[in-house]
Amino acid sequence: LASVDSTNRYAAEALTRGELSHGAVIMAQEQTAGRGQRGRTWQGATGLDLMASIVLLPERMRAVAQFTLAKAAALAVRDLVADVFRSEDLDVARIRIKWPNDILVDRHKLAGILIANEIKGEHVRSSIVGIGINVNSSTWEGVDATSLLLETRRGQDLHLLLSRLCMHMDHWWGLTGKDDAAIAAAYTDALWAKDRYTDFTLDGRRITARPLDVDDMGRLIIEEVGGEVAAYGLERLRFLM
Ligand code: BTN
Repeated sequence: LASVDSTNRYAAEALTRGELSHGAVIMAQEQTAGRGQRGRTWQGATGLDLMASIVLLPERMRAVAQFTLAKAAALAVRDLVADVFRSEDLDVARIRIKWPNDILVDRHKLAGILIANEIKGEHVRSSIVGIGINVNSSTWEGVDATSLLLETRRGQDLHLLLSRLCMHMDHWWGLTGKDDAAIAAAYTDALWAKDRYTDFTLDGRRITARPLDVDDMGRLIIEEVGGEVAAYGLERLRFLM
């Protein structure tokens, strides 16, 4: 699409009308009301950044396992960025997944993912995986961000990137329900700040803790200074940066 308010919203409506099948991808050159996590907006630069939504129609994914989709999507984006980094001889270890599914290079956000799952009964009926990647843009206001252009000094073709992204998504999606342990292990391995003490807010109170892993519900398992280990969801726990 040349321009749309939000590819996620467009995909949701088209899905409701029965116009989209599993694997459909909506990409836009421009979003006029891009959506971000927690009700925020997402500003991708027109014609420069990748803004797309991938529609998944799981056949028998249980609602309790839905975080697997978030892991799969984050790993697909991570792998795409790793491809670009490798082609430029850059260190792929700098690319991390910040729980739940931001993609960072060092401490700077390169990509964000917004997933809308429709649950019916005990199952995930559909999933719209919205992905925004800073590709050819280089200026942001008030956010600690980076882009592929800033990291590599080279511009990228958005359609080529999208097709590679779909390839990686296809790989990780293909493992869901078959080898969830492999998805979980790869996600844990890529976790930003894993085992490193960092600042959070827990119920609004500032704490220092180190991320150890995520549990099956997608909650982050942390160890506070002092040794207490517990798992928390986004409604209680936030990274301070
Ligand atoms: C975040 O806040 O980190 C998530 C950002 C997700 C942005 C993408 S861009 C394509 C898709 N359509 C939207 O409206 N949002 C997602």
